[in-house]
Amino acid sequence: MHFTVEAQKIVADHLQPGNIAIDATAGNGHDTVFLANTVGPHGKVHAIDIQGQAIERLQQTLSQLDLLERVEVYAADHALIEQVVAPKLSSFVDCAMFNLGYLPHSDKSITTHRASTLRAVEGAYRLLKPGGMMTVLAYVGHPGGRDEAEGVSAWLESHADDLRVDRIQDESNPQSPILWVIKKNP
Ligand SMILES: C[S@@+](CC[C@H](N)C(=O)[O-])C[C@H]1O[C@@H](n2cnc3c(N)ncnc32)[C@H](O)[C@@H]1O
Repeated sequence: MHFTVEAQKIVADHLQPGNIAIDATAGNGHDTVFLANTVGPHGKVHAIDIQGQAIERLQQTLSQLDLLERVEVYAADHALIEQVVAPKLSSFVDCAMFNLGYLPHSDKSITTHRASTLRAVEGAYRLLKPGGMMTVLAYVGHPGGRDEAEGVSAWLESHADDLRVDRIQDESNPQSPILWVIKKNP
């Protein structure tokens, strides 16, 4: 299974033209472009990444695809998602996507970490509309990855009364990525 494709398929069933979405780990922009195409010209995507270089490339890509107008781009730590994004929001958010870890073929030391990821997931969850959804894709094979995934799992358990969650992984592979699909209770 290709987990990034699976996450997009699941989001595509939920997200509508005109909606508001967040890409909390924009990187090379595959999810940002997907979200921008899905929300259409009347929607908005807020895309965050801590790497200035990734953000510059993302802006070029969005410009080439004529999508700049529907995407707000932030070079920032997503732990600060509420401070950075909330002032730019016209309403609560329909969907947020997280693709954790590091950018492939890039500096592996610039990776997401348990503490900042938990602040970001918590912040994004607070920005979601009731009935909104969030995907979190975690990788356990790199240093700190399993600890980060355990942190997300514990956070979800502690919020079990407020949300519904599906966990998707390849049970036959101990190194399988984990995809959580989270729906905030209406
Ligand atoms: C797996 S990559 C995301 C790939 C991206 N979804 C794409 O389509 O190319 C993870 C990204 O998280 C970013 N990142 C790491 N720590 C971060 C943080 N604290 N805040 C925001 N972004 C962070 C990295 O720079 C990297 O681009």
